[in-house]
Parts: sequence; structure tokens; C-alpha cells
Amino acid sequence: MHVGWSLRTAAGQSFDHNAYLTPYRLREFHPTEEGFAPLVVDLTPHRLPSNQATTAPSVAEGRRLYEFTGCMACHSVDGTKSFAPGWRSLAGSMVPLADGTRVLADHDYLKESILNPGAKITRGYEIGMPNYSGILTDAQIESLVLYIQSLK
Ligand code: HEC
Repeated sequence: MHVGWSLRTAAGQSFDHNAYLTPYRLREFHPTEEGFAPLVVDLTPHRLPSNQATTAPSVAEGRRLYEFTGCMACHSVDGTKSFAPGWRSLAGSMVPLADGTRVLADHDYLKESILNPGAKITRGYEIGMPNYSGILTDAQIESLVLYIQSLK
């Protein structure tokens, strides 16, 4: 789940933040009892802009998807160590795998890592990468690969 907020103080200072989380247990939400105005939920089906096939693959779109689809919850792009392998200098490197072999992080490897994460596990990491097959379009995966390749 992605929750984003944009707040502004009376003095005009603004705060924009995003949180990515997996709800575990939700208690019932009664907006008016919590001090909110009655909520109106619009259930009209609509397509998210990110799912439109018309967006041509680009580094900028990849950066947007990195945040929008939650990759950033696990992968860093600045070399910081975290739960998942960082993306900085990943493209073109030889990645050590859990089975003791090494693989070149080329276009096909990056794409496979997104569509079928269990196929090759990076040494030192656990299976824990969600499978994005059927969730991201081909164009979106291309954008993400372009973005990873841009992180030298
Ligand atoms: C819940 C945490 C999590 C999220 C969210 C996540 N990943 Fe991963 N990812 C991992 C882990 C853990 C690994 C290492 C294990 C493996 O190789 O499958 C990994 C591995 C990878 C690799 C291979 C990295 C390497 O060093 O070889 C790529 C590429 C990748 N993820 C892309 C993505 C993309 C693109 C997204 C968003 C669309 C994403 N990941 C979202 C946890 C995550």
C-alpha cells in the first residue's frame, strides 16, 4: 500500500512524504468518530496513468516507477546497504549468486530479476523480492531497467 501526503504549515512551509507498507490487521475506520468529515468514496473504474501503454520507456519514467511501485522500500540507489541489493553500479557488474556462480547484470538479467525473482538469488540475500509478473507492463519494466542502467 502506498500512502502519500502533502502538508503545508500556516507559515507556508510544505512537507511531502510517502510511506510504503503492507497492512497486517486493519481495525474498522469510522471517519466521523475520528474527527474527519464524512468520506465520499468514488468507485468509478478508471485506469492509473502509469498503466497506459502509451508511456514510452524512459529513465525518468523508471525513476517515477521506482517510487510509485514501491521498489524504493527495499532497494537503495545511493549505495546504502539495506534489505535488498542496492542498484547503484549494479548494471554491467558481475553479480555473485547464492549458488556460487556469477552472472552479468545485463538487460536480460535485470528483466528476469523483476519478472521471476526466484530464478537467480543474489548471494547474501533472502528470497523476498515480490514477483511483478502481470503487475508491471513491458514498457514499465523497460523503464525500470533503463533507470537501473543509468545509476552508475
Ligand atoms: C519487499 C522488498 C523488495 C521490493 C519491494 C522489491 N525488491 Fe527487488 N529484490 C529484493 C530482494 C530481497 C532481492 C535479492 C534476492 C533476489 O535476488 O531475488 C531483490 C533483487 C532484485 C534485483 C536483482 C538485484 C541484484 O543485485 O542482482 C532487481 C533487478 C530487482 N530486485 C528489481 C526490483 C524492482 C524493479 C522492484 C520494483 C518494481 C523491486 N525490485 C522491488 C527485494 C525487493
